[in-house]
Amino acid sequence: MSLDKPEAATRAVWGGEEKYLMETVTQVPVVHSVSFGYEDVDDWKAVALGEKPGHIYGRNTNPTVSVFEEKLRQLEGAEAATSFSTGMAAISNTLFTLLSPGDRCVSVHDTYGGTNKIFIEFFPRFGIEAVLCDTTDFAAIEKELEKGCKVFYMESPTNPTCKIMDIERLAKKAHAAGACVVVDNTFATPINQNPLSLGADLVIHSATKYLGGHADALGGAVCGKKDLVEAIYHYREINGATLHPEAAYLLLRGMKTLALRIERQNENAMKVARYLAGHSFISRVFYPGLEDHEHHDVAARQMRGFGGMLSFQLASDNFDAIRRFLPRLKFAHRAANLGAVETIVAPPATGSHVELTAEERARAGIPETLVRYSAGIEASEDLIADLENALSTMTT
Ligand SMILES: Cc1ncc(COP(=O)(O)O)c(C=O)c1O
Repeated sequence: MSLDKPEAATRAVWGGEEKYLMETVTQVPVVHSVSFGYEDVDDWKAVALGEKPGHIYGRNTNPTVSVFEEKLRQLEGAEAATSFSTGMAAISNTLFTLLSPGDRCVSVHDTYGGTNKIFIEFFPRFGIEAVLCDTTDFAAIEKELEKGCKVFYMESPTNPTCKIMDIERLAKKAHAAGACVVVDNTFATPINQNPLSLGADLVIHSATKYLGGHADALGGAVCGKKDLVEAIYHYREINGATLHPEAAYLLLRGMKTLALRIERQNENAMKVARYLAGHSFISRVFYPGLEDHEHHDVAARQMRGFGGMLSFQLASDNFDAIRRFLPRLKFAHRAANLGAVETIVAPPATGSHVELTAEERARAGIPETLVRYSAGIEASEDLIADLENALSTMTT
């Protein structure tokens, strides 16, 4: 045995792995290593203390994951970005970093169902007050903000009824009250909207949706002011809701086509919304690109595209209509997801807002016979023909 000629067992462990260098690959590799090794303990310490760039332990940072964060940081025009295992981890870690017992948080009734659950189920246990306002009544929201709050949490467009919040106007008021302004930008994506440029302090994404775009990886992110993102990162590194490098790789791969996909999904959603708005078996269509949308003017001002999400209400109050309609669609997954290349339909009553009771859904303005429609990248003619066919059999 010698250090120059190690035994097979030692070579099996160390052969070819003496160096911590990455090959000169053109694609970001998936770095599965949990830890990162150092020859020199002073280098190790400098990296651990943040005095030198590098990685220490996979729960904290990872090279593949860092590339994902950097790409999103650049897309949102943020000072900093950090990532999470899911969108809900991004939301809960952000809220529980910023809020302490006795604090007040202002938001709206129809945020994503999981977010709403944090407000109504978990906040009371931690002595945090959640004041939930009517999403479209900006004057009433401003009144609540004037009373003071630590966090003002927005979502625009909202899930699932695509309501629009005036981010610039409300952020101004929230800042005057000393609040930190957080916006869930999942529906819009950084291609259609950059909330930081409208006055938000932090932007949140469920990367699971449009950023990844292929419904094969869960992930979340928050980006914005450096000091805030660092505080949230610290909470996450201790609480451990880390984005997996394999998921980061899939998300990164998806993000390369984000602009192309969103351009097509914007177009498809607009065409489908216009078609449905003229159909006799549809009682309402919720899409910010339609001129009769309550805040179409605000959307036109703050968004570069109206997005790929819309929802519509069948002309029936009976959930049976949903049971009959959804299976008739050929080019749509019936699934609890959105933002993928395939069109996806879901009734909020069984999907995004299944955690809520029927009364809570009603309070959030979500009809039981609502269909949430995530337009994919298919040919719009086929999507419309598919809806036409499914709806025609409904009416006969
Ligand atoms: C607007 C919005 N925010 C957050 C989330 C939560 O994301 P995740 O499922 O990645 O936890 C969702 C999920 O549907 C969503 O639609």
